Amino acid sequence: KAGEEAAAGGTILMATNAEFEPWEFHDGDAIVGIDPEIAGAIAEKLGMELKVEDMAFDAIIPSVASGKCDFAMAGMTVNPERAASVDFTDTYASSSLVILVKADNTEITGEDTLAGHVVGAQLGTTGDTTASDICGDDKVERYNTFFEAVQSLKQGKIDAVLLDKAPANVFLSQNDDLKQAGEELGKEEYAIAVKKGNTELLEKLNAAIAELKEDGTIDEIVNKYIPA
Ligand code: ARG
Repeated sequence: KAGEEAAAGGTILMATNAEFEPWEFHDGDAIVGIDPEIAGAIAEKLGMELKVEDMAFDAIIPSVASGKCDFAMAGMTVNPERAASVDFTDTYASSSLVILVKADNTEITGEDTLAGHVVGAQLGTTGDTTASDICGDDKVERYNTFFEAVQSLKQGKIDAVLLDKAPANVFLSQNDDLKQAGEELGKEEYAIAVKKGNTELLEKLNAAIAELKEDGTIDEIVNKYIPA
């Protein structure tokens, strides 16, 4: 059977939320994007067969913490709250949050004008927590996906969406009634999460990441989806 040889080292199960193009998204039945491709290259180095499990973003950390999935790769930003329940590898990409508004919005011109407005984000993301910090918890509308947040913005139900730069650019390329307001917010770093204390896997992943950075594979995959 196909894949049997690759599976000699066993299967490794990745948790993700495939609602985050270009990092991970659906293409028919397949889950594709930067993270699945990097994970595939890592699995190959480990001699293991990669399986990807799609779930709600806020279910990812619990699934790794409980050991249901071996690791998570989901354009996931490293932060202290998450690092309290999972361990993170070395970072493999950087990003920042941007504000999306309707193209005709003149009130929101950047981070300093966001307070007082209703901001949408995918539940449990840094867009969610950052919007809560800036605007207050009750001013944040939380959605299962950023796609739904963007639909809500287009319908005028909310004033802005706070999300990672590359996915924001995908939405901008598909919706000419939207624009980015102001500059990018502070820098974020993406890493892979593993169960706390699983140093054996953490070290293997870090070694694979280092090799894939070194030989240009990660840059190549990122540049394929995010043209410079
Ligand atoms: N980088 C942000 C965070 O870590 C958003 C990640 C959303 N990822 C996804 N696959 N939906 O909170």
